Amino acid sequence: MEKTFVAIKPDGVKRGLIGKIIERFEQKGYKIIALKMLNVDNETAAKHYAEHVGKPFYNELINFITSGPIVAMVIKGINAIKGVRHIVGSTRPDEADVGSIRADFSPFSTMNIIHASDCPESAQREINLYFTENEICDTYQTMFEIISKELEEKNK
Ligand code: PPS
Repeated sequence: MEKTFVAIKPDGVKRGLIGKIIERFEQKGYKIIALKMLNVDNETAAKHYAEHVGKPFYNELINFITSGPIVAMVIKGINAIKGVRHIVGSTRPDEADVGSIRADFSPFSTMNIIHASDCPESAQREINLYFTENEICDTYQTMFEIISKELEEKNK
């Protein structure tokens, strides 16, 4: 089981895609264990994208993520980091797999709708940056968890 951080960026929020995007993760069977809308301040944006300081697109990236509210979430599931990024699609929408969020909804690298952590270290760092421990709600059981527990019991 892995946890990963996902943010619907300001373009996704403004275009009214929140529901459609969350639906893709839920229908896959991933568990949403934290969710909120927030305005990202400059300090948080700089921490989030610290590894990109000095890149030609850095200012654009910071200006964009602070340009309006985002929807931040934590998603849990088997191999969730890789699986979520597959659903999100490649950074460049013209290279993203058909059926991925970026291929289906965005023609730009700048306004590419959504962010997802790229490795376990980034996932933990980003989760800690956007959520307190109290905001992580992992106590409820999804249908998938109930069914797989039942199967486990049967196979004992
Ligand atoms: S790199 O250099 O390969 O590590 O960069 P990459 O992973 O492709 O992109 C890192 C994040 O920057 C965003 N990006 C851009 N934003 C604005 N303008 C331009 N031109 C641009 N190019 C890349 C890209 O969407 C990544 O953001 P996140 O939020 O991590 O998806």
